[in-house]
Amino acid sequence: MIERTLVLLKPDAVQRGFMGEILTRFERAGLKIVGMKMVWVDKDFSKQHYEEHVEKGFYPGLESMITEGPVLALVLEGVEAIGTVRKMVGSTEPKAAAPGTIRGDYAHVSYGYADTKNIGVKNLIHASANAEDAQKEVALWFASQELHTYKTVHDVHIL
Ligand code: RTP
Ligand code: MG
Repeated sequence: MIERTLVLLKPDAVQRGFMGEILTRFERAGLKIVGMKMVWVDKDFSKQHYEEHVEKGFYPGLESMITEGPVLALVLEGVEAIGTVRKMVGSTEPKAAAPGTIRGDYAHVSYGYADTKNIGVKNLIHASANAEDAQKEVALWFASQELHTYKTVHDVHIL
């Protein structure tokens, strides 16, 4: 039941100075950061990470957006962490994301607006969608020696 999931704070989150605020939300929920690093993604790596989207119409905008500056990559660990983190992240389109979610609280743009500008919709954050993607994405982004097993006070109070 303890899962690990890959999270990316995308270039818009890094450039807007929201890394600390977003990390705080995960820490406050008792999720454990077991890996973290800044990475400037290139086009080849974007195609590996977003393999399922490469043929889609929105991919060029997505690739420009994810390669425009460094991302903060993290692996979070916790009880059923994959679903919990997706819930905290919110719907893909910021306009549709509920208040209280990361995308709903820190952005508001719509697909329609992004399309008129011919850019990818900036939604701050990526989180693995399911167990299969999480396993694949954690392995793609982190070497095993970059992932750490340690105790936090949450382990005493929450688990
Ligand atoms: P993510 O993979 O980044 O966590 O987002 P997600 O699962 O909520 O959404 P997904 O369907 O996997 O889409 C990946 C990213 O592509 C951009 N996108 N743009 N303009 C569009 O129609 C459109 N659709 C998706 C978003 O940046 C989304 O996070
Ligand atoms: Mg996705």
